[in-house]
Amino acid sequence: MPETSVLEGIQPGLTTTQAPFIEQAKASGQLYIHQPYEPYSEENHEAWRRLYSRLAPRWERYANEHFLKGIESLCLDPQRVPRLTEVNRFLNPLTGFQAKPVSGYVPAFLFFDCLRNREFPTTITIRRSDHLDYLPEPDIFHDIAGHVPMHTDKNFAEALVRFGECAHTAADLVSGIRDEETRIHCLTSIIKAMARFFWFTVEFGLMRGKDGLKVYGSGLLSSYGEIAHAIDAPEVQRYPIQLEWAVNQGFEIDHYQPLLFIVDSFDHLFSLVDQLEKWMRAGKLNNVAPGEPDVNEADLKSFLRA
Ligand SMILES: [Fe+2]
Repeated sequence: MPETSVLEGIQPGLTTTQAPFIEQAKASGQLYIHQPYEPYSEENHEAWRRLYSRLAPRWERYANEHFLKGIESLCLDPQRVPRLTEVNRFLNPLTGFQAKPVSGYVPAFLFFDCLRNREFPTTITIRRSDHLDYLPEPDIFHDIAGHVPMHTDKNFAEALVRFGECAHTAADLVSGIRDEETRIHCLTSIIKAMARFFWFTVEFGLMRGKDGLKVYGSGLLSSYGEIAHAIDAPEVQRYPIQLEWAVNQGFEIDHYQPLLFIVDSFDHLFSLVDQLEKWMRAGKLNNVAPGEPDVNEADLKSFLRA
């Protein structure tokens, strides 16, 4: 049999890692872009359709009530990749948040600073329709169906903004450290602590509600397999969140999470962010446990140039 690629002859569209539009934007150094809609191929819409229809019943069962209310108020079309301008038309009046299209990785300080400004850096590409399950990069399904519905909730939105403000506190604090080696050491540790906090709350958080444990983390909300695993699998460790644990706990991104943390409410989440900032000011985040995640050069520079 002749060997033929499944994608041969199919437009690259705006598929993850294969989109010429994104490659051009990156080549010309554009991080903040617009979302062109015409390039989306039928295969791209098919990927959205399949992802959405598989997850919808699982959201009903596993997602927290704020997400369910949020996704309804965004009026997403289950059949077609969303237009960010449309999403923002519904989102913005609720909390002031908006989805802001980006060409790829946003260095840590810039990412957090966007949150402070109620902007959410949003990927516009979508995974291949024959690779729905695992994808190391974010895509528009993860960002719009996983994150953005949470931004419709006032309390959650305030916690995110507060988290964004912590990045400014961090930049101010380290700019006062004269010795360069100490400055880089402390900054690396603070960024690690912030990334871990974000991971164990915004990306993989669980919340206790009147109907038991529910999911509010976007990494779980956008994963067909893991949303159920997070709640049902007996081997997953689920504990009430303790800040001292979360900021010192490494994580790996290439398998289902073995350890998840529970908050009581988004007011609780907000108070944890407050605490995080207090600890930062007290120097308690200057030496968190080594390990994942890696802090790269671009992350460090983004803070040092802030
Ligand atoms: Fe995410």
